[in-house]
Amino acid sequence: MNKTVITGIKPTGEVHIGNYLGAIKPAIELAKKYKASYFVADYHALNTEHNAENLRRQSLNVAATWLACGLNPDEVIFYRQSDVPETFELNTILTNFTAKGLLNRAHAYKAAVDNNRANHEADDHHINMGLYSYPVLMAADILLFDSNLVPVGHDQQQHVEIAADIAQSINHLYGKELFTVPEPYLTPEGQTIVGLDGRKMSKSYNNVIPLFAESKRLKKIINSIKTNSQEVHEPKEPEGCTIFTLYRLFAGESEVAGLASRYRAGGMGWGEAKAALYEVIEREFAAKRELFNNYIQNPHLVETHLQQGAVKARSLATNKLKQLRKAIGID
Ligand code: TRP
Repeated sequence: MNKTVITGIKPTGEVHIGNYLGAIKPAIELAKKYKASYFVADYHALNTEHNAENLRRQSLNVAATWLACGLNPDEVIFYRQSDVPETFELNTILTNFTAKGLLNRAHAYKAAVDNNRANHEADDHHINMGLYSYPVLMAADILLFDSNLVPVGHDQQQHVEIAADIAQSINHLYGKELFTVPEPYLTPEGQTIVGLDGRKMSKSYNNVIPLFAESKRLKKIINSIKTNSQEVHEPKEPEGCTIFTLYRLFAGESEVAGLASRYRAGGMGWGEAKAALYEVIEREFAAKRELFNNYIQNPHLVETHLQQGAVKARSLATNKLKQLRKAIGID
């Protein structure tokens, strides 16, 4: 079967290496084999980003990131979510088939409630409907294109499962395959990436390594990685060390073995380990960063690709919606 792949990136904050390893890189690989649609999830970002200028800038950043990381807009349907309004009609349809209890169990909502409880606030304090129904909008993105595979970081796995649940219950109700049931596509590297402070790399912990930080800033960020107080002469344990764990994601096998033995031999300080990490990250992203910067300076190039992508996406989406309306009796 020729599979269909879809994934989106929410334009909030800077794209970081966790996003790259969890979603972007596997997605670009999958696009070589399958029919792929990749997009900028700008309406998902509106949930938290209420500054128009920031949202605009971040949407451009995400689009430029996709292109700089090797997305080929002639082969991939590359678009901005808000340019495909069929998504929002499907979202409206799907809400009517989504059990409220399913959304009560969504991790992001539960975490927000737990946080409120910890702060002695009402359960739903500061929780808007965009957060609550976030998984439905995501299901609309996915189901609109009958996608089979959804490359995502592990934190998004549950959302894809919710989309699959919604698809199955609609198929069951109408007694036919109205939707393809999607599956998350997870990679081992996409597993929780460790951040600067040793916790999971996440925008909300402010511990990320941005994908396209300029060399000087990248160096500074890497130098801020938390280490223990072992001195230079002491032998060190690579396993569990944040610097080593990150190094392994970008280095070749023999490089990894080499750094591990330098750790164990003693005589290497944290500064040197950080310099080694800087080298491999810089090697991976320097050329892509140049492409990225070029797109940021020439946003019309990005816009042209997005507009062409939207035309292709809408042609599929209007077809799908026509079928759906007919199936549910709204036509
Ligand atoms: N929720 C995803 C994130 O925060 C972004 C996203 C929106 C997405 N719609 C999607 C991912 C559809 C995959 C498929 O990273």
